[in-house]
Order: sequence, then structure tokens, then C-alpha cells
Amino acid sequence: MSQNAENIVSLIKSHRCYSHPIFKHWAASNPEPNVIGALFHQIQMFCSSTRPGWEFPNALEHHGLNVESHLLQEIVESEEGHGPELASMAAHIINKAAGEMVFHDTNDQISVEEKLKDYSNQLLKTLPGYTVEDGLTLQARKAISVFDMRKSNSREDTYRNLGATIALETISHQQLIPGEKLCLVDSGAYGVSLDEPEMHYLHEHWGESGAEAHHEQNAVEAVSSVLNDETVTFIEEGAQDFLDSLCALWDVLDSTLLHSGIPLDKDVKQVA
Ligand SMILES: [Fe+2]
Ligand SMILES: [Fe+2]
Repeated sequence: MSQNAENIVSLIKSHRCYSHPIFKHWAASNPEPNVIGALFHQIQMFCSSTRPGWEFPNALEHHGLNVESHLLQEIVESEEGHGPELASMAAHIINKAAGEMVFHDTNDQISVEEKLKDYSNQLLKTLPGYTVEDGLTLQARKAISVFDMRKSNSREDTYRNLGATIALETISHQQLIPGEKLCLVDSGAYGVSLDEPEMHYLHEHWGESGAEAHHEQNAVEAVSSVLNDETVTFIEEGAQDFLDSLCALWDVLDSTLLHSGIPLDKDVKQVA
């Protein structure tokens, strides 16, 4: 990795988002099924916004960055089928947490996602800026809007998109996916394993041979080859926007749904 790329990676790793405790708090607080549903709704809405390439691979090619375009295209293609698999995993976990079949068909993506949104609306609709039509917190909308920039093919935005991508893939590989594995599997709270068909999403994404490790490697390679004194500003801006907005989403979900790691009854006892 070039010296400059190492600087970008250390910028990502030193951001609060990289070590955000939301998933540790999820594991520690053993949330109710409706809370899990609300969390999965916000997570799945955010994740689905990160999958399409829009104009980004074409824009890279347009600016003469053919190798980088190919690296990005590979990431985009590998995302196929991940939406239905994430919905299926969410439904399976909620069934386990509830101890009954809340979702009779965990493969029915549309009705699973509709119910996840209902849970989110039920618990979060009074937050300032929350919109019930799409069930989005203000913070999720902001995090999602970072990926709208992939619809632009300007040179500056293309470099910003590379910055957002290296941050996304580093966070996915090193914070988000390990965090999900910790709270969903390793905690033992739901009695599930990575070998179950409904857990295929996590099985495919997790670990050094998983999808996110591969994405991270592609993103680092693409950024390393285009970094110079002129592009570094845009790349850093893109990474920073991604990290700040996702961190704000983790903060609001952590504080409203997981009480930032403090189970409510213990909190009340401490106050008393
Ligand atoms: Fe994915
Ligand atoms: Fe990824």
C-alpha cells in the first residue's frame, strides 16, 4: 500500500465509527424482537443504498481509470442477491428472539421488509426528522445520501466516491460485519450458526475469505493507484462524509434503541 493510501486507512481506523460499540451494546442488552426489527430496518435501508454502482464505474472509465472501474464493477456485481439474504437473516433472528414464527416465510423479502419498517415506525417515529413513508431516521437519510453522489460523473465526485467506497468497505469488513457476527451468532442469544441457510448473508460476508475482505482489497487497490496531491483532498472528503454520517446513524440507534449499552432496568435502579 502506498504511503498516501496508508494515511487514508489510518484516517478511517481512527474515526469513532470504526470502533463504534453499537453491536457490543446489542449483544449486551439482548433487545426485544421489535427493537431488533427496527435496527434491521435502518441497517438494511442503509446497506441497500450502498450496493448499486449507478454512474460510478462508468465515470471512472470516462476519466481514464479503467482498472479502477473494473475493481469497482467487481464489487457491484458481487452484491447481487444480498438484499433478499439480509431480509431472510433478519426474519430468522426475530423468529428466534420471539420464540415463535413472527415471519412464516423468511424468504418473502417484500413482506419481511414491510414488517421491519413497521417496527421502526412504531419505535422511532417521534424522532425529529423521521419520515414514516420510508421509515427513515434523519441520520439514515444522510448516510444514504452519500451514495447518491454515485449518480454524478464529475471528476471531483468520482474521487469523492472512491473515498466513500474505501471507507465503506473498510468499515463493512472490520466493524459492521464482525459486529453483526458478534451480536447475532457469537453472543449465543439466538442459538444460530453460520451454517444455517437463513444465515448465509453473514456466512458470505464475514472473515478474511468473505465478500467484505475482497471488497476492501479492491477499494484499497483502486484508491492507492489514483492518490496524488490533487486527488487526496476529494478522496478524504468522501471518506469523511461516509464516516461522519454512518457514525451519526449508529449513535442515534444506539441511544434510542439500545440505551447506549445500559439496560433500562439497571439504569432506573442506578438513578434510584
Ligand atoms: Fe453485500
Ligand atoms: Fe462491501
